[in-house]
Amino acid sequence: RAPAQASPAPFLFDEIALKPTADDHLAAGFQRQVVIRWGDPIFADAPAFDVTRQHSAAARRQFGINNDYTAFLPLPPGSGRSDHGLLVVNHEYPLPQLMFPGLRADQVASRITRAQVDVCIAACGVSVVEVKRVDGRWQVMADGRWNRRITADTPIRISGPVAGHAKLRTAADATGRLVLGTHDNCNGGVTPWGTILTCEEGSADFFAGTVERHPDRAHLERNHYETSPHGRYGWARFHDRFDFDRTPNEPNRFEWVVEIDPFDPEAPPVKRTALGRFAHEGAHCALAADGRAVVYLGDDWEFEYCYRFVSARPVDRADRAKNRDLLDEGTLSVARFDGDGTLIWLPLVFGQGPLTAANGFHSQADVLLETRRAADLLGATPMDSPEGFEPHPQTGHVFVALTGNPARAAVNPANPRAANGHGHMLELIPPGGDHGADRFGWRVFLLCGDPADPADGATFHPETSAEGWFVEPDNIGFDPAGRLWVCSDGPGVRGHDGLWVMDVAGPQAGLSRLFYSAPIQAECCSPAFTPDGETMFLSIQHPAERSEDLASARTGWPDFQPGVPPRSAVIAISRK
Ligand code: FEO
Ligand code: CA
Ligand code: CA
Ligand code: CA
Repeated sequence: RAPAQASPAPFLFDEIALKPTADDHLAAGFQRQVVIRWGDPIFADAPAFDVTRQHSAAARRQFGINNDYTAFLPLPPGSGRSDHGLLVVNHEYPLPQLMFPGLRADQVASRITRAQVDVCIAACGVSVVEVKRVDGRWQVMADGRWNRRITADTPIRISGPVAGHAKLRTAADATGRLVLGTHDNCNGGVTPWGTILTCEEGSADFFAGTVERHPDRAHLERNHYETSPHGRYGWARFHDRFDFDRTPNEPNRFEWVVEIDPFDPEAPPVKRTALGRFAHEGAHCALAADGRAVVYLGDDWEFEYCYRFVSARPVDRADRAKNRDLLDEGTLSVARFDGDGTLIWLPLVFGQGPLTAANGFHSQADVLLETRRAADLLGATPMDSPEGFEPHPQTGHVFVALTGNPARAAVNPANPRAANGHGHMLELIPPGGDHGADRFGWRVFLLCGDPADPADGATFHPETSAEGWFVEPDNIGFDPAGRLWVCSDGPGVRGHDGLWVMDVAGPQAGLSRLFYSAPIQAECCSPAFTPDGETMFLSIQHPAERSEDLASARTGWPDFQPGVPPRSAVIAISRK
């Protein structure tokens, strides 16, 4: 720990109250600007958004829906500038009931049309958009040379140990090395060489099929697939590859981490199979003491695990091109949290311990394809839905947000509450700051809940106000000064989601305060700062997502115009 740096200067603002209204609310003295919304053109030739005239060809040239992960990469690359850069943004999943007037939520899977499905496919994936601050306002540069859309049918290369595996081959791709699209992209990370990792979180919802008839039934069940006639969004009705009765291996081509080089728009994205296959929430990067790349990975599901990947070779700081396939070789490990405060990283390596033919593993590719089953066999610690991982910019301690696990009966040291509906946070302590070490220290940083309700056992700082506590932490981010920003994704007992900020060390550690109240039914995601800390980009996802049966569904945040539905958007927050 580095105490001199761990307690940043006080960040003063008048705390607000959570307000479950259609609009968002922000601490006094700060301003927020909508930078880009679902449907906004990101190319000079793209049509303006018109909800009555949607077409997949238009959606491919527009910002996608349900923005989640958001990264700011300064331009020129490596310049550290804070007024010009690329935003790289995930578009996690469609909301057909809000996208298409007249389509009810309970009819999406059975009534959606082919044209509507193809709009959804085009509206998911990733956007790369050049932005510039001019006279205090962020502008989207529609002619930006790096602007790009990656959609749920963009050709993507599969690389690493599982590429070409028999269980990745399909009629459309006999090589098992080229897949169409990425979807369910939740959070992500920026690599030390400036590429983006976008995470496929939980593809099961996108697929249709009968689990009981699948040749690899136990594998599907272990990955939480359920029998579904059309899949949640009806894609399988028009695209056989989303029906695992017809295309049994297609699910194996998802739930990976995908690397995108935003500075090379011609380069295909790459699924990096060495980073394992599970419900990847994020992929937060760090460096080991010897220069190898480290990627922290949470599997966002109840009773699933925390993982870490360490590359075989060090990052080449002088020659970016040498890092192109760095993430194809290395060691994936899974966390075991011991009661004595030790975290043991258990390597998922074929041939070691139980990861042998006796348990059905014949190669490292088999281990990675069934990462979860391999982790089960190693005795990893089942967690309460691990989401954000974020290393502190000064101390290197890694903070982990766990959204919760109401189904928990048996507790363990790192998940100490049964029926944990409120979630908690852990602090992982790499020895000497070495993210590549085999063993870390760890402690519970915070148990979430209402401090006024003794049954919750919440551990916020005693001066935390009635608005300052939160539940169900999801995305977290440090500002350059080392303050932790926490987005909730519940809303749970608070009834509404928002963004809180607190110190993680020093006398005010755990004194959380509410800074931003989201639009109704929205989650705010991915606080991302410019290098100078003056602008925070924040991703506002699924505003009014359950309002499709209300008149308000045809007006909504942030436009509030008749005939315009609620639209997810990235906002920029700065001091007035
Ligand atoms: Fe997409 Fe784990 O939240
Ligand atoms: Ca999300
Ligand atoms: Ca999330
Ligand atoms: Ca979540």
